[in-house]
Amino acid sequence: MDIPTFLRDNNLLSPLFFLSTTIFILFLVKRTKILVFKSIENLPPGPPQFPLIGNLLQVGDKPHVSMANFAKKYGPLISLRLGKQLVVVASSLEAAMGILKTQDRFLSSRSIPAAFQQKPLLPHSLIWSDCNQTWKNLRTLCRTELFSAKSLESQSILREEKVRQLLDFLYRNQGQVIDIEDVVFTTLLNTLSCIIFGKDMAQFADHGCGSTRDGLKESLHQVIEYGGRVKDVGSFYPMLERFDLHGLTRATKKVFDKVFACWEVVIEERRVVVGSTTWSSDHQALTFLDRMLENGFSNEQIYQLVMELFVAGTNTTTSTIIWVMTELIRHKEVMSKIEQEIQKHIISDQIPISQLSQLTYLQACIKETFRLHPPVPLLLPHLAVETCNVMNYTIPKNTKIFVNVWAMGRDPTLWDDPCRYNPERFTDLKLDYKGQDFELLPFGSGRRMCPGLPSGIKSVEYILASLIHEFDWGVPNGDDPSKLDVNEKFGIAMKRENPLKLIFKQKCYKDC
Ligand code: HEM
Ligand SMILES: *[C@@H]1O[C@H](CO)[C@@H](O)[C@H](O)[C@H]1NC(C)=O
Ligand SMILES: *[C@@H]1O[C@H](CO)[C@@H](O)[C@H](O)[C@H]1NC(C)=O
Ligand SMILES: *[C@@H]1O[C@H](CO)[C@@H](O)[C@H](O)[C@H]1NC(C)=O
Repeated sequence: MDIPTFLRDNNLLSPLFFLSTTIFILFLVKRTKILVFKSIENLPPGPPQFPLIGNLLQVGDKPHVSMANFAKKYGPLISLRLGKQLVVVASSLEAAMGILKTQDRFLSSRSIPAAFQQKPLLPHSLIWSDCNQTWKNLRTLCRTELFSAKSLESQSILREEKVRQLLDFLYRNQGQVIDIEDVVFTTLLNTLSCIIFGKDMAQFADHGCGSTRDGLKESLHQVIEYGGRVKDVGSFYPMLERFDLHGLTRATKKVFDKVFACWEVVIEERRVVVGSTTWSSDHQALTFLDRMLENGFSNEQIYQLVMELFVAGTNTTTSTIIWVMTELIRHKEVMSKIEQEIQKHIISDQIPISQLSQLTYLQACIKETFRLHPPVPLLLPHLAVETCNVMNYTIPKNTKIFVNVWAMGRDPTLWDDPCRYNPERFTDLKLDYKGQDFELLPFGSGRRMCPGLPSGIKSVEYILASLIHEFDWGVPNGDDPSKLDVNEKFGIAMKRENPLKLIFKQKCYKDC
């Protein structure tokens, strides 16, 4: 029996029956909707939601991509439900401005991933605090003692030494295939640990001979991995998953305890020195630890801030360098132009940090890489402290907010031919990533903008310039470099899905 016959035979097409069924169904829909989510007037539009889980299943393991697809369909400001959590995502210049500028005041709290919900430490957090006094003081301390022009200047010798060690390591391993991520990460970790503690805390894994894995490097990787779990993009999981999130908090605590036990020894040693009557703060080469001790920091305060600096600073900067290298390998002509620029401006053997500002084409390549591969594609999660309005939509209090800078970098209304890697677009465009130009926001903008920008950029420019100045780079097995893949893996910093394995040899002009 076909369906129309079935309907006719059962008298289901009578107008009265039709009307009453429709009303009944409408009533059910409305009821269940009310039962599941209290409906809020004038939310930004978004995809239809399933009861309880909302849009969780649609978000998948590349949230920046699925959210960009939603934006194409529903507009530049969308709302989603991830479990119980209401989430708003901005994906256009106007929407980003509304969030990070116009309503910045109301939208600058944080939503804390499970891994970082460490009760005793959170009151000392920079990254996860509301914009309160603690947060202000910590940002000021970092700005003046770590990221100011004067601090960067005083870190120059140390940075040069760390890059020297990187190059020496590479010289020793010429002819081998190398996982460039690990050596860059190690260099950045040691640079930061020397600035903070005055000593290295990681070693290069010697390739081939059963690598010696160092404690801090491993531990940091674990923390970063726990903190960047995709399913925690919301700490939104309903019921059953709660257990799992508790597991993440506990696992992270275990790693923290191990790391802090090592730091405690260093801190206590130094506390005695800084506390002594002969201590004078115009000591040469003061470490950041000394500064924190001078400011009367407790061990907990030091643990939390230092851990946050390591987590926020190393993975992001490494990822930037790896993506630039990836694009340069894929685009031989761009690589040649950088090489020419370096040869034109740098005459000394090792590049002096003071001359990096002359490498303007390299800077354009870095910007173009930030556009296509922003290391933090959704920025860090913001949280609404008050209900407010963006683009005439309501954003209720406690909404979690993402800005999809990845989607904005590929928006054809903002960029010509957006999928093409073309650094030339930045050579005569006065567009920068310092938070003023909303087309390009790899560091965010407004009060929560990344405070580490000057330091991160210095490392990126310096390490890249040095790697290119010293060696010719290529892909192993005679593969076609222009076919090198650009698949992404989401995390605290978005990285390549496949490790970047490269071969390299000393530049010809250096030995002949
Ligand atoms: C290329 C490298 C880097 C990139 C792309 C980057 C990007 C970001 C982004 C997108 C945010 C969040 C902004 C927001 O929530 O709106 C952030 C926050 C932060 N970054 Fe960076 N970052 C980098 C390097 C660094 C370095 C080297 C440090 C320190 C050593 C650092 C420390 C921080 C801190 C402490 C925060 C939290 C600020 C707050 O919540 O008030 N970052 N970064
Ligand atoms: C700042 O906020 C954090 C949590 O957001 C809190 O733990 C801390 O105690 C606050 N500090 C001050 C001075 O209010
Ligand atoms: C960042 O940390 C994660 C987690 O340990 C690691 O898998 C990834 O390779 C790191 N990415 C970069 C670019 O260092
Ligand atoms: C918001 O509403 C006001 C008044 O209703 C209107 O003038 C304005 O153009 C609207 N803005 C946007 C972004 O739609």
